Amino acid sequence: MQDKPVALVTGANKGIGLQIAKDLSAHGLTVLVGSRDFEAGETAAKSVGDDARAVQLDVTDPASIAAAAERIRNEFGRLDVLVNNAGISHADTPGRSLEEVVEAGRLSVASLVEVHAVFETNVFGVIAVTQAMLPLLRESPAARIVNIASSGGSLTLNSDRTNPHRSMFGTYSASKAAANAVTVAFAAELETAGIKVNAACPGFTSTDLNYFRGTRTVEQAAHEPVRLALIGADGPTGTFSNEDGPLPW
Ligand code: NAI
Repeated sequence: MQDKPVALVTGANKGIGLQIAKDLSAHGLTVLVGSRDFEAGETAAKSVGDDARAVQLDVTDPASIAAAAERIRNEFGRLDVLVNNAGISHADTPGRSLEEVVEAGRLSVASLVEVHAVFETNVFGVIAVTQAMLPLLRESPAARIVNIASSGGSLTLNSDRTNPHRSMFGTYSASKAAANAVTVAFAAELETAGIKVNAACPGFTSTDLNYFRGTRTVEQAAHEPVRLALIGADGPTGTFSNEDGPLPW
């Protein structure tokens, strides 16, 4: 088993996940760059740092998840940080504008095929990867799990009629709300094991997810997830926050 702590970031071949991987590497961790496409992961890993390795990982594919967990055990013998970052805002239907995606995501009209696809990645993927990595995380002296959440999935904020973004609450936001419930469940269950589980909102960030309409940089977006990935023994568990502080569930 290696001495250095090991972090796995899902969907780290681009966007916020890639930046989280870079920042964790800069903090001295060995970083495993989870990527559906292994070659894209390898290219990304080269940009992350000397001690970064690509891991083929599709969070919707049980065989891929199991193989990743086995490889991490055999090659590194440990896992200390899991960042559940992989996410999609819609099913991959080419040629749609952001406005069309938002309209198609409204639950009154959304295709159930698309709803399933979004929940498969954003909710069930988080549960499946976390379950598979838990045996390794339980062996870590200070395991941390960070789920990349969204204030757009806050039930409290979206129940406020004065919230101008409330009209956008659809398939994607509902999946992020469900993912928040998953964070609470894992945090409660793993508290006695000393595994801290927190949700971090990166803010509206310019990435593929929103057709690069976001107003924040990936560097800004990675700040809170990385802070939570590295919190000490006195740090919180079961929280939802961005870099300005706590967010309501
Ligand atoms: P992105 O589209 O650039 O990156 C998403 C990553 O997830 C990509 O690497 C993609 O390949 C990967 N991915 C998708 N499906 C996957 C699967 N089945 N298995 C493995 N990897 C998969 O988008 P971005 O913005 O970097 O998203 C990262 C996370 O941040 C997501 O969870 C998203 O919901 C969340 N988020 C993003 C915000 C934004 O404004 N960009 C705001 C709030 C949350």
